[in-house]
Amino acid sequence: MTKQRILSGMRATSPKLHIGNYEGALRNWVNLQDDYKVYSMVADWHALTTLEGDPQDIRRNSLEVAKDFVAGGIDPAKSAVFIQSDVKEHAEMQLLFSMVVGVGKLERNPTYKDMVKGLSKSTLVSMGLLGYPVLQASDILLYKPYGVPVGKDQAPHLELSREIGRAFNSRYGEVFPDFKDMIDKDESRSKLPGLDADDEGKLRKMSKSYGNCIYLNETADETAKRIKSAFTTPSKMRLTDPGIPEGCAVCQYLKLYSPDWEKQWAEDVAGERGCSQSKKELTEAINEFLRPMRERRAELDDAAILEILARGADEAREVASATMDEVRKAMKLA
Ligand code: TRP
Repeated sequence: MTKQRILSGMRATSPKLHIGNYEGALRNWVNLQDDYKVYSMVADWHALTTLEGDPQDIRRNSLEVAKDFVAGGIDPAKSAVFIQSDVKEHAEMQLLFSMVVGVGKLERNPTYKDMVKGLSKSTLVSMGLLGYPVLQASDILLYKPYGVPVGKDQAPHLELSREIGRAFNSRYGEVFPDFKDMIDKDESRSKLPGLDADDEGKLRKMSKSYGNCIYLNETADETAKRIKSAFTTPSKMRLTDPGIPEGCAVCQYLKLYSPDWEKQWAEDVAGERGCSQSKKELTEAINEFLRPMRERRAELDDAAILEILARGADEAREVASATMDEVRKAMKLA
């Protein structure tokens, strides 16, 4: 039996994925690839909607992100890894979908409002940014996927994609089946905190803009250095002071990456261990977790990833162009 399809994507806004990206998205894609045909997409056109400042080398970002996908466990023999702009059908679909969605609906999209708020005053609020979910609907619906695994923040975009598909179907006939949200409920992973805390001493999400990340593609020494300066319970000055693991970045990570975390937490609370010991043990655990990724990454030069991406784009195009044929027929464009 042929496998059902899964599609998901990540924006190429930076050349480096961090472990928050891995926990919030990539891990799920990797786990799904035995049961589904997974299409893992680097959304380079989407990256253009919010980039501020000088133009970045988006192609370079995309290649590096694709390497992180493969290093992170996406197996190109099972899954299609591709770059959005290599499959032009996404752009044609975006254009045609833009005829069935109202501007008002896009303006009310909470993610759009947040993105506009986050932009600096001088940045253009482009038609492309408003149309972000229309492009995302195209990414998704062209593959008629069984489901779309994403973090909770993407829920509004999935709902809009679904509405766009329905609007198309009701005007032109059933082309797009419904798809499932595969939203990760485990927030300790999907909302992985960074290594620091905000002004009030609360953990905040891992984000490259906060500089509180551990990257998939860094050396064991770099990871060790970052963990050394990580945020821990501020009132725990001495080894014998009690820790508060719930509010401590290092303890939160121990819970995810160390098999012995229950013992480590108990000792922390009882004042039987110091933060530097926890940091040392965490460094070992995370470096162990990242080791296979580093090994796979070392094998991947540009030539290797370009070959994987060319094959992935061919596989994606095969599905996307068949859907486009149906779309053009339904719309009496062909
Ligand atoms: N909007 C998604 C994000 O910011 C990225 C994305 C683009 C995506 N196209 C997609 C996710 C299609 C799932 C399906 O992370």
